[in-house]
Amino acid sequence: MLPSATAGGQALFKILRGKSILTYIHYHGNPNQLCFLARRVDGEESDQLAQFLQREYSVVNILGRERAHGYMWWSTACVPACGCWTWAAAPEVGHLHGAALRVHVHGVDLSTNMIHIAIERQGKLEEPLKKKLQFEISDILTVDYERESYDVIYSRDSIFHIPEKQKLFRHIYRWLRPGGIFFFTDFCSGPAIPSREFLAYIDGAKPDRVSPEHLPYQHGISCKVFGNFCVTPPRASVTPAVNSRHRYSLAGKDVYVKELESAGFTDVTSEDLNEDFMKISKAELKAFTSAREAFISDFSEEDFAEISSTLANKIQWTQEGQLSWRAFMAIKN
Ligand SMILES: C[S@@+](CC[C@H](N)C(=O)[O-])C[C@H]1O[C@@H](n2cnc3c(N)ncnc32)[C@H](O)[C@@H]1O
Repeated sequence: MLPSATAGGQALFKILRGKSILTYIHYHGNPNQLCFLARRVDGEESDQLAQFLQREYSVVNILGRERAHGYMWWSTACVPACGCWTWAAAPEVGHLHGAALRVHVHGVDLSTNMIHIAIERQGKLEEPLKKKLQFEISDILTVDYERESYDVIYSRDSIFHIPEKQKLFRHIYRWLRPGGIFFFTDFCSGPAIPSREFLAYIDGAKPDRVSPEHLPYQHGISCKVFGNFCVTPPRASVTPAVNSRHRYSLAGKDVYVKELESAGFTDVTSEDLNEDFMKISKAELKAFTSAREAFISDFSEEDFAEISSTLANKIQWTQEGQLSWRAFMAIKN
């Protein structure tokens, strides 16, 4: 894989697009033949989003998290329709079956690690299934597809990375055929006032670097209203993180519904999945903790602490109403 641009004073390539070639997949069952579109960039012209995703979704992180959540946990790319496109679908292609054999799935993710692992696993699938999948490295906000070319667009737990939700929804609306379905799950902000720890996690800052004046109630914003807006603290007002790792843009359910409707979608529905999330996460945390020794010998003590504390925090924040896992469905008429 070509590395994305990294700072360091050298001329590097920034990958604009990289995807496996359909002809090779269809005629030879070979997903490993890829074409790339890359641009030379100077060392200073760094691609911050791609670099952040490379760190956030490092191979160790992807494989380590699968140990907590289950092999092939990363994404469910199962979409029963023809001409499907699943954004940020990534590696989980294993349980495509039945109806899926009649569909074509196009998985897109900006993380080269995600796509690399997806293609590696695609190569091990049985021939008919292998030929139904195509993966692509692209930024979903800058890539473009033919108008009205997909029946279903599916995304799991990825839109919280995107601040420009309205722009994304307009693109998705354009790519869907009339009658097409947009289905996604995502982590949203809940109705409760976000704690310092929660805001710090979202912004990649350490809790002690988030000053009290950045907390929403200090701005006089009621928690209900705040829950309906982006939880990313105003960038200018947050003390820069020493090692900025998380930069999420969580929005409340009402923001999602409003943005979907103003992008043109109708019949927008939203479902609260918090109970399921907490039940599944608690079971996973218990199993992960009991497999601690084996995990540490394959990964590290630090990775174990990071994964288990993230899981425990997410359970707590969901229980407290700061975080909310939801499913959304919207139709293009
Ligand atoms: C939490 S992971 C979820 C991955 C997968 N959908 C799943 O549920 O297992 C979020 C994914 O969104 C991808 N992502 C974030 N911003 C993106 C963008 N602008 N374009 C494409 N993918 C993006 C990340 O690289 C990452 O793989």
